[in-house]
Amino acid sequence: MRDFIQGLPKAELHLHIEGTLEPELLFKLAERNKVTLPYKSVEDAHKAYNFKDLQSFLNVYYARSQVLLTEQDFYDLTWAYLQRAHKQNVRHTEIFFDPQTHTERGVPFETVITGISSALKEAERTLNLSTGLILCFLRDLSAESAMKTLEQAVPYLDLIQSVGLDSAEVGNPPSKFVSVFDKARAVGLLTVAHAGEEGPPQYIWEALDLLKVSRIDHGVRCLEDEVLVERLKRDQVPLTVCPLSNIKLCVFESMKQHPIKKMLEKGLCATVNSDDPAYFGGYVNENYEGVVQALGLTQDQVVQLAKNSFVASFLSKDQKAKYIKEVEEYAKAPSPLPSVGEVDPQGRVRGR
Ligand code: ADE
Ligand code: ZN
Repeated sequence: MRDFIQGLPKAELHLHIEGTLEPELLFKLAERNKVTLPYKSVEDAHKAYNFKDLQSFLNVYYARSQVLLTEQDFYDLTWAYLQRAHKQNVRHTEIFFDPQTHTERGVPFETVITGISSALKEAERTLNLSTGLILCFLRDLSAESAMKTLEQAVPYLDLIQSVGLDSAEVGNPPSKFVSVFDKARAVGLLTVAHAGEEGPPQYIWEALDLLKVSRIDHGVRCLEDEVLVERLKRDQVPLTVCPLSNIKLCVFESMKQHPIKKMLEKGLCATVNSDDPAYFGGYVNENYEGVVQALGLTQDQVVQLAKNSFVASFLSKDQKAKYIKEVEEYAKAPSPLPSVGEVDPQGRVRGR
């Protein structure tokens, strides 16, 4: 199944670009920008990965993001992720970025978005990988700060597909951001929100009804509310689930307890994603492998997850149909991977 997953065309829809900062690049950027790190070595930085909940992770994630200062830094970070995604046969990716993490430290919004977008354009040109960009508001900051960030984004709307909502969930419900999400939709952006990761099912209701989201990020706690499950199923609201993240952040005790199989069996449009892969032990393929191994997903269920990833994307109807056909053809006749270093006509390369 590992080879099957490797060759499977897939989309990734829940990926924080700041969460792809690997210790090696962290050290390189710290040196380049003369930032002092609280780690003696790359190995030392690799070890600091024991989280007890979302907040304990966010503390490390925000601290490390401080090495990101220049347009080149944001380009290098994004390009490193895109190359990895390409090697895992990710055909389309929609990336979150957290501008407030940087603008609050004095890094201009323009620096952040220009660096990230240049790498996305390069991937479209050279890696046969389509991309999208989602601006996330930090929900533990004020609604006013989110509104100011949206205003900063207005000159760059052609680079952004959607707004999102992330950071510390509990105590920061979607209802806090109704005005800013109203404004985002008014300027033509789509909306998504993290909800039901650590927070209650009520936050998922609010994201749907108040923020009018097209997708729920995580959403794993929906299973506590049968009426909500019916609503999500009826409207086929996609849920961007991140299995390794949920285990690392102690949302579930082990992968055997993870509900993704149950979600599929209930007819929900669940997808598999990596969230913050530099911190949680794997990129998207390792997330697929983790759930297959622990929960015994069938090959049909794995194919369903890959199809869902395109259905749930912000691609056009035609683009979705093209990628879904690719998945179906691959499922009928899984083609061997190209040789090391080679790229096949679908743009697939040999990973690992
Ligand atoms: N920011 C980065 N990763 C996150 C997650 N899993 N939940 C909320 N905010 C985040
Ligand atoms: Zn996330």
